[in-house]
Amino acid sequence: MSDSNETIAILGGTGDQGLGLALRFCRSGRRVVIGSRKADRAVEAAENVRSQVPEADVEGLGNEDATAAAEIVILSVPFEHTASTVKTIKDSLRAGQILVSMTVPLATAVGDGAVRTVGIWQGSAAELVASLVPKGVDVVSAFQNVSSHRLQDLTATVDCDVVVSGAKAAREKIMALCPLVPGLRALNGGPLSNARIVESMTALIIGLNIRHKCPEGLGIRFTGLE
Ligand SMILES: NC(=O)c1ccc[n+]([C@@H]2O[C@H](COP(=O)([O-])OP(=O)(O)OC[C@H]3O[C@@H](n4cnc5c(N)ncnc54)[C@H](OP(=O)(O)O)[C@@H]3O)[C@@H](O)[C@H]2O)c1
Repeated sequence: MSDSNETIAILGGTGDQGLGLALRFCRSGRRVVIGSRKADRAVEAAENVRSQVPEADVEGLGNEDATAAAEIVILSVPFEHTASTVKTIKDSLRAGQILVSMTVPLATAVGDGAVRTVGIWQGSAAELVASLVPKGVDVVSAFQNVSSHRLQDLTATVDCDVVVSGAKAAREKIMALCPLVPGLRALNGGPLSNARIVESMTALIIGLNIRHKCPEGLGIRFTGLE
């Protein structure tokens, strides 16, 4: 289970998805550190969170310092900058930390559209991340199918299942974070290799958003569970 005293760092928390998660985790009472390549941008994002969630325990730091300050680190940068970001924080990572990949390898990374993904040698963006981290750091895949728009709207519940994949103990800690966001339900997604399926579902969801004219973003639900 997730320890509520553990700090959550969100690298690229200045952007849409990271900011949405920061708002939600702060509202649930968790301590959040927003990371950015530029510390002043992170401080600004933390002020933004505090303006919407006055009780927020939040601070903004450079990505390396944010990584060092947290037990759980969520990567929230576009796929094309994921590997370079992991390399910049590598010296700040330590055994026992969990690094969460929610990156979707959209084909926009190579100048194509957002309704397709690109192939990755390792099988998924999450497995690429896992190939780059120091020994003892667990990589978990989660939150790829959750809409940033819905996360940022604090008046709304986020009606979505989150398939969480990775090694058991780390996976269970990240699954425990999901219900902190009203409407999110965690599902045990098994091994990290299943991230390749979950990541590609986001490209499908983006196409559905366009065809069904849903700019707020669709969610996914698996049926048949208690
Ligand atoms: N948006 C969604 O609805 C959504 C849904 C599911 C999953 N995701 C995933 O979540 C991640 C973040 O998505 P997003 O929409 O929030 O992205 P974004 O707003 O485009 O960018 C997020 C942050 O990435 C950092 N960044 C930008 N260029 C960079 C570079 N060259 N090198 C390193 N960092 C750079 C920036 O932070 P600084 O400039 O402060 O460093 C930026 O604020 C992506 O991997 C995406 O696939 C997004």
